[in-house]
Amino acid sequence: MATSALTVPHHIAIVMDGNGRWAKKRFLPRIAGHKQGVDALSDCVKACLARGVRVLTVFAFSSENWNRPSDEVSGLMDLLVLALAKQVPRLNDNGVRLHFIGDRQRLSTRVQAGLLEAESNTAANQRLVFNVCFNYGGRWDIAQAAQKLASRGEAITEQSLDQAMALAHVPDPDLLIRTGGELRISNFMLWQAAYSELFFSARLWPEFDEAALDEAIAAYSARERRFGQTSAQLGAPHKVTNENAA
Ligand code: IPE
Ligand code: IPE
Ligand code: MG
Repeated sequence: MATSALTVPHHIAIVMDGNGRWAKKRFLPRIAGHKQGVDALSDCVKACLARGVRVLTVFAFSSENWNRPSDEVSGLMDLLVLALAKQVPRLNDNGVRLHFIGDRQRLSTRVQAGLLEAESNTAANQRLVFNVCFNYGGRWDIAQAAQKLASRGEAITEQSLDQAMALAHVPDPDLLIRTGGELRISNFMLWQAAYSELFFSARLWPEFDEAALDEAIAAYSARERRFGQTSAQLGAPHKVTNENAA
C-alpha cells in the first residue's frame, strides 16, 4: 500500500456529543451514556499520546448544560469527581497535564477542590496538555478576557485578548472534531477556532474509537490550510478538500 506522510495535528479539540443518544438506543439512563463517554475519552487520550498529538481540548460541560434536568446535572458533577479519582493516576503514568477551563465559581466546593487537586497532581507532566472545558462557553471566555483587560486598564487588541483567554497557554486548535452528527459549534472555542479545520462525525461519542480518530486525522492531513493566502503562494499542489461536501 502506498503510504504518504501524515500530518498529525498539534492540537485537537473535540465536542464530545452523543452520550445521551447512545444510552437511549440501549434503553439505559442518560448517565450510563456519560459513563461510557468517560471510557471513550480515556481511550482517546491514549490514542492521542500514541500519535504524537501535543494538546487535546475536550468539551465536557457547557455553560448551557445547566439547563438540563437537575438529576443529569448532579450526575455529571459526581461523574467528574469519580473520573478524576480513577483517571489521574493513569494520566500521571502517561505524562499528561490536566487543565480545567471554565467558570469555576458556580461549581460546588467539592468539585472545585477536585479540579485543583487534579491540576496540581499532574502539573509536572509534559507529554500531552489535556484541557477539559467544564462550565465553559466560548462567549464566557471572550467576556472574561475583556473584563480582565478592562480591570487592568489595558487596551483591547486581538493580541491582548488572545493572551487573556482561559486557553492562552496553548496554540489554537488545528483540528476541531464534533461527534454525534450535529453540524454546529454550540459555543465551543469561538475565538480559537477561527482557522481550525472542522470534522463532523456521525458517530456518537461513546463509539468514537481509535479508527474514527484516525479517519479525522487523515481527513485533516489531506486538507490545505491557506490562512487567507492562495494555493500558489503556499507552493504546494492544490488538494481536493471536499470530503465533507456532497
Ligand atoms: C454530550 O452528550 C455530553 C454533554 C453535553 C455533557 P449529550 O448528553 O449531549 O448526548 P446527546 O446529544 O443527548 O445524545
Ligand atoms: C455540546 O453538546 C456541549 C458538550 C459536548 C459538553 P450539547 O449536546 O450541549 O449541544 P447542543 O445542545 O446539541 O447544541
Ligand atoms: Mg448533545
